[in-house]
Amino acid sequence: MSAKGNDLAGGPSGLPRHIAVIMDGNGRWAKRQGLPRTAGHSAGADSFRRMARYCQKLGIEYLTVYAFSTENWKRPKDEVDGIMALLERYLRQALRDMDKEKVRIRIFGDLAPFSPELRRMCEQCMERSAAYTGGQVNICLNYGGRDEIVRAAKKWAAEGCPELDEDRFGSYMWGGSIPDPDLLIRPGGEKRISNFLLWELAYAELYFSDVLWPDFDEAELDKAIAAYCGRERRFGAVGESQ
Ligand code: FPP
Repeated sequence: MSAKGNDLAGGPSGLPRHIAVIMDGNGRWAKRQGLPRTAGHSAGADSFRRMARYCQKLGIEYLTVYAFSTENWKRPKDEVDGIMALLERYLRQALRDMDKEKVRIRIFGDLAPFSPELRRMCEQCMERSAAYTGGQVNICLNYGGRDEIVRAAKKWAAEGCPELDEDRFGSYMWGGSIPDPDLLIRPGGEKRISNFLLWELAYAELYFSDVLWPDFDEAELDKAIAAYCGRERRFGAVGESQ
């Protein structure tokens, strides 16, 4: 078993310490309302902010969201530009409000292809919030799970291939030594993990919902957490009910 805290089966309260979310269904949500896809992403960004606030209220220590994958560049340019504009808007608001909210913000992914302005805002957000202890929000941008593992292997090789175990290898991932997600939520009806946190999700409980991400509200998160709390996490061992 990894020593990254996962033997606690979530937090001491029984709630997950770390929730990861694939924010899926924005495009379909927009289509159903006769709106352009970017309107769906805008509603998705509102849903993300609502969820981050609610997680902080519940005392969930880490929230990691998949905002833009290494594959999402294949989308039409106006959609990609729309998502970038939403990210900029979010980061600008976060820079304005962070002293009040005290949430640490981290970006996981290679920022090199983004505009200098977006990169600067990402870096500022990470630097200025680094010491905050009111929870941590990780935004995966230009992120791919396989890409992350390959980068980890390259970092290890660049350090001269030191003695390796799971924890050490995990420390080369974007999140470093933060605990792995206890719960992965994927709204939007699809049942796959789409190259998200391939290393970190090894023992996560999976929760799939047909609700589209813009409609995924506090009550839906409560349902996901209740489902999580009703599960027995065995980490490969024999459980109490067996
Ligand atoms: C997947 O839904 C969603 C995305 C690829 C983008 C997610 C981006 C945001 C929620 C906005 C920016 C985020 C932040 C953190 C401010 P989809 O478009 O694939 O939906 P579909 O399957 O219905 O087409």
